[in-house]
Amino acid sequence: MDTSHPSHLCLFFLMCVLAPEVATEVEEPSDGPAATQELTWLTDVPAATAFIAAAEVALVGFFQDLELPVVSIFRDMVQNFQDVSFGISNISDVLTHYNITGNTISLFRLADNEQVNLEGEVIESLNADKLSHFIEAHNLQLVTEYNAVTAVGLFSSNIEIHLLLVINKASPEYKENMHRFQKAAKLLQGKALFVLLDSGKKENEKAVSYFKLKKSQLPALTIYRTVDDKWDALPVTEVSVERVQNFYEGFLEGKLLSENHKSEEKTSKVEL
Ligand SMILES: *[C@@H]1O[C@H](CO)[C@@H](O)[C@H](O)[C@H]1NC(C)=O
Ligand SMILES: *[C@@H]1O[C@H](CO)[C@@H](O)[C@H](O)[C@H]1NC(C)=O
Repeated sequence: MDTSHPSHLCLFFLMCVLAPEVATEVEEPSDGPAATQELTWLTDVPAATAFIAAAEVALVGFFQDLELPVVSIFRDMVQNFQDVSFGISNISDVLTHYNITGNTISLFRLADNEQVNLEGEVIESLNADKLSHFIEAHNLQLVTEYNAVTAVGLFSSNIEIHLLLVINKASPEYKENMHRFQKAAKLLQGKALFVLLDSGKKENEKAVSYFKLKKSQLPALTIYRTVDDKWDALPVTEVSVERVQNFYEGFLEGKLLSENHKSEEKTSKVEL
């Protein structure tokens, strides 16, 4: 749960630091029918690897001793996260395969192929709140909805490029655009983290204005690189897979499209 990263003081970074305070405001199992979540027992190595490969985000409890209090905390969490697959194993072959030496809870995710572990002393003093916060922060889906808690996970990922769809979730164009954004996310999986930034939420105003976007310019695609705070924005009436891909590739080549970069220069000249 290390939240440290390069010392640039971007707005996102500030939000990361603030994140623990707002943890309790984070909400909302995703829409759709609320399927009853089950805990899957991973009885051998092939079952474990197949289970992890099939989930966007999998949380696996590797326990040598099932009598520990942490095991029931883990089991009780299953119903709270509809978009996370929960697995459990006490089989020594499985633990060995994943290099587990003590009781460990590991979060595996496809978005950046990372494994994040809770182990050692952290496991010994784990309670439901801490486990909940850990999952919320590291639950990066192929498209992750931005908030102060997921920002922690986004900024601790090894992937430097964040591609955001800035759109009001309550708008009529949301569904179709989000669908296409999802498709682009699959295509560029592992290269960029895909983020939904809901411009309809008051608490996201600062993040939206970081990209110098006015309401009239939304929806928009934005791109952000964590290592140097470079960003770009592209207002779009319609998201398409091709447009997302071109925007991403152009940014890597150093093209900056945003009208807002230009108006930035103009404004500063006027101010002089
Ligand atoms: C794993 O847990 C099950 C169910 O409690 C138990 O029957 C089994 O002996 C355990 N296996 C190992 C290797 O500890
Ligand atoms: C376990 O550790 C070995 C040696 O460090 C490494 O090569 C292997 O990839 C690890 N296995 C997993 C599943 O992470």
